[in-house]
Amino acid sequence: MRKPVIAGNWKMHMTCAQTKDYMNRFLPLVEATPNDRHLVIAPPFTALSTLAETVSGTAVEISSQNVHWEDKGAYTAEISPTMLTEFQTKYTIVGHSEPRKYFSESDEQINKRAKSAQSHDLIPIVCVGETDEQRERGEAERVIRRQIEQGLEDTDPEKLVVAYEPIWAIGTGKTCEAKEANRICGLIRNWVNSSNLIIQYGGSVKPGNIDELMAMSDIDGVLVGGASLEPESFARIVNYQNI
Ligand code: 13P
Repeated sequence: MRKPVIAGNWKMHMTCAQTKDYMNRFLPLVEATPNDRHLVIAPPFTALSTLAETVSGTAVEISSQNVHWEDKGAYTAEISPTMLTEFQTKYTIVGHSEPRKYFSESDEQINKRAKSAQSHDLIPIVCVGETDEQRERGEAERVIRRQIEQGLEDTDPEKLVVAYEPIWAIGTGKTCEAKEANRICGLIRNWVNSSNLIIQYGGSVKPGNIDELMAMSDIDGVLVGGASLEPESFARIVNYQNI
């Protein structure tokens, strides 16, 4: 049984004060959420400590938005796995399209981050996905397959989440059709060759499309950006209805 993972990626939003306000509004809305799903929030590094205090004793789990592969050392601006586990961090996003685009993050670096995370009991949420141009040129499957093969090399699929996030659907309001997202997630499952692998969809997920997405056979959760910034809309996503 694959337990769905519903995760909110706050990206570069939310101060500590805003995190407290958010959680005061959010926690009552998810008090009755069934425990057949994981509920995860990925705040910026600076709000990890505040979030860890606020969610203590609740079902909310914590993710970071990145992780370095070394435990410590001369890596200015990076955060190590042990620094994250100090704040009860359970997941870490790696290979998101934004660091891939703005900081030229490579599949090799992503692979090092994912392997290091797993060796520190952090579950990497490895993001893959094609650009608009790649999709139009018919290259989507080849691009995603390369990201999967290189990014996941020597990782354990039982301690892993893959997020299929087509770049053209991120922050654009243009969601990938549920059936097409499901088709790509099915391909990813075949390539990784693991029936237990958790595969999320991400890209303009909102209260209006969550139920349809979660009804798909190969979609085991979602990675939510914009719609996770409002407690009410993220709570509706977390409380998706089985249709
Ligand atoms: P949006 O939900 O804002 O499209 O962002 C998706 C995303 O990048 C989650 O990691």
